[in-house]
Amino acid sequence: MLTLHQQPDRRERYEQLRPFSFEEDLGVLCVYDADLISEIFRSEDFRTNPFADHYREIAERTGIDFQASIATLDHIPFSKEGAEHQRLRKEMNKIVSAESQVHIAGMEAFIAELTASLFVAANEIELTRQLARPIFFELFGRWLKVDEREFIEESNFSAVFDGAMSLNRRKRVNANLKGLRCAFAERADRIPTTPEIAVAMNVLGNDALMGSLVLSLWHVLEQNAGARLNDIEIPPNLVATGVPFIERIANRDIEINGMKVAKDEKVRLMIDATSRQITGIEADLFFGKGRHLCIGKPMTLVIWRAISRGLRKIPLRFTMGDMKLRTGDYAFNYPEFAWISLHE
Ligand code: HEM
Repeated sequence: MLTLHQQPDRRERYEQLRPFSFEEDLGVLCVYDADLISEIFRSEDFRTNPFADHYREIAERTGIDFQASIATLDHIPFSKEGAEHQRLRKEMNKIVSAESQVHIAGMEAFIAELTASLFVAANEIELTRQLARPIFFELFGRWLKVDEREFIEESNFSAVFDGAMSLNRRKRVNANLKGLRCAFAERADRIPTTPEIAVAMNVLGNDALMGSLVLSLWHVLEQNAGARLNDIEIPPNLVATGVPFIERIANRDIEINGMKVAKDEKVRLMIDATSRQITGIEADLFFGKGRHLCIGKPMTLVIWRAISRGLRKIPLRFTMGDMKLRTGDYAFNYPEFAWISLHE
């Protein structure tokens, strides 16, 4: 159950479990229904998960230094509520909205060129490394004014959200975050924000953006086996997500659409389960709703639609190769690799 969101037959399971079910092995009430998830996202009776507290407890229990993870999570807007949430959200919004028209045009041009050079006959393409990663670096280079390829090798930072990973993996992620903070601190005169905010933005955007782009494209290709790329009607919205669930905690005993939640009980909102319930261009839950609505959403959609336009120019057929989700990942759906090959 820990990895239900990664199981190939999860769609059927979601149908059986909808609208909600208490998962014994997780000890968590899981919600699978789009309307109920939407209501909880918007509710003031639920608060976000204070992720850093979990690390504080582990650090205290084990004596291990998790300061880099704690500092990072303390700068994630959806680990806070109230004034601190507003402050962090505003700070990140400033970066994302600065010169936004220039960056939109720049990303569109970058993706047009990337797709034209990558999607050529007889090419074998690994979508995570060759399509999603260059897009991520281009975007963050624009937002943070530094070329992250100078200092990022291991990009598995987003795993810091993973509540279930082993102590050793936790230590590795912590070391990566420490290195990333140092790299931004060394470039403090160039970045438009503090090193802590720069790290938090990377953590927010990394797996979410790359995982969602590759899995959505993979799903579209699977649905269109045998077609030429330029004949595929690619939906304007993402069709799969790298962020399979988000958690909330109840502020009081509450009954919501027949679901009883006790004060301080955690609920897991299975966004992944809503992907077949989506209607309308923007009417999705992949990016959350309400006060914690994702600030990367507009740019993610710009990128997805630019990929779609790029592929509409490629009159080639494709064969799907191997795809493997990163294992031992209880927070994201992230393809370790996803191969396709192109031919006339
Ligand atoms: C360009 C990269 C991205 C950046 C910089 C980014 C940034 C953010 C930020 C700052 C928030 C917190 C907003 C707040 O608490 O007020 C957020 C929330 C969220 N993001 Fe993103 N995001 C990105 C891409 C994505 C993608 C591709 C997805 C999934 C398709 C996603 C899913 C979410 C969700 C579900 C939330 C809501 C979390 C909650 O309510 O607890 N994000 N994002």
